[in-house]
Amino acid sequence: MGSTTTPTPLPDAGPPAFLPDAASPLLILTTPTPAERARTGALTHPMWGPALAARDYLAREAYLTTVPLARDGGITHWVLTVRGAAPDARPLLSSCESLRKRAVRARDGRVEDGVAHGVASVFTEPRYRGRGYASRMMAELGPRLRGWQAQARGGEGQAGVLCSLLYSDIGKTFYARHGWAPFASCHVAFRPGRDAAAGNGAGGGGGNGEAQVARPIGYHELAELCCVDERLLRADLARRPKGKTHVAILPELDALLWHMMREDFMTKHIFGRTPDVRGAVAGEPGKRIWAVWTRGYYGGLNKLEGNTLHVLRVVVEDDEQPEEDVAAGLRSIVHIAQAEAAEWKTQDVQVWNPTPKLRGLIDKCGVEHEFVARDKDSIASLMWYGEEPTAEIDWVANEKYAWC
Ligand SMILES: CC(C)(COP(=O)(O)OP(=O)(O)OC[C@H]1O[C@@H](n2cnc3c(N)ncnc32)[C@H](O)[C@@H]1OP(=O)(O)O)[C@@H](O)C(=O)NCCC(=O)NCCS
Repeated sequence: MGSTTTPTPLPDAGPPAFLPDAASPLLILTTPTPAERARTGALTHPMWGPALAARDYLAREAYLTTVPLARDGGITHWVLTVRGAAPDARPLLSSCESLRKRAVRARDGRVEDGVAHGVASVFTEPRYRGRGYASRMMAELGPRLRGWQAQARGGEGQAGVLCSLLYSDIGKTFYARHGWAPFASCHVAFRPGRDAAAGNGAGGGGGNGEAQVARPIGYHELAELCCVDERLLRADLARRPKGKTHVAILPELDALLWHMMREDFMTKHIFGRTPDVRGAVAGEPGKRIWAVWTRGYYGGLNKLEGNTLHVLRVVVEDDEQPEEDVAAGLRSIVHIAQAEAAEWKTQDVQVWNPTPKLRGLIDKCGVEHEFVARDKDSIASLMWYGEEPTAEIDWVANEKYAWC
């Protein structure tokens, strides 16, 4: 059950007299008490919450147990500690969290619902580092998640837990060693710019001018767009090549709201207000293209390099449309994103892991951009729980919305 009360962190009791070996049978992976969670939060604040005051960061972490996806036990906090030691007095040797998400797998045209767990906030307090505790925690966590909350919300999820995933900020080897294989991790970056939106819809890319002028998407429009997206994605998965397993995290409304409510908490604290524009859409129903986005802040107002407008998901409703029209719509959408990025003090607009088709459209739409292949940060990594080797899985829609 989520909670909005912010517990007081435990005082630092100093290092324990004895630190167990990372391979010791004395170590267990378990869930922390609220005060232990607050202690972990106080420790991770300098790393993940510098855009907020420490108190606000702890409040955000508590708030993030109450939002869609996380509420009703969807988020689990984990700690590696000593078996039998008293809660609130035991050492927290390493910590992380997992977030339950709905996922679908497809094989030979058959699409099945299941669960995926996103793993995040892997952390070892500096004085315990280099002793193998994070490694032990991950070695325990991978198999534990395989049987964790196998029923998705609402009782769907007949296929059980399909996979767990994480986004490594420490390169490709550490998590791979524990079974999370690195997948495609690149992005296209656009610069922020107020001027771009002023010329929205005009010039470049050819196409059907006026009809492709984008307009902003508000919160209330997300529900319908997510329904259409899910329907199209399921149909796409069913058509994927046979003899291979394809998996996607569902880009459902709750998955997007998790990002946006996190964003709202941040913008409320940083700017004193929340954004109205959650994305942009061009074209008529049935032939729309849209992008949904969220603003992420690590640097706050003093260090814009830590702030990014992340495109969570891009959808082209009708694949058969002339490319010129789709590119013109995309150009207009990017212009709105660039203007929002400037207004909301982010350093860039990022589109993660665009498909070859989307990359072609981005090139065609004529907006200056940079292609970045990442090798250290946000490396999308997956552990597959089915029979197939993880490396053989086709991760479909490996976009920012799946991040946590
Ligand atoms: C990453 C972290 C969790 C490792 O915790 P730990 O308990 O010291 O981990 P272990 O002792 O089990 O393993 C250490 C391994 O992690 C690797 N590692 C630690 N920090 C790393 C970094 N920034 N980049 C690459 N590898 C790193 C070490 O090289 C070491 O590898 P080795 O065994 O080949 O020497 C810890 O350093 C930490 O909390 N860092 C800050 C938060 C963070 O970056 N978390 C990861 C987010 S994806």
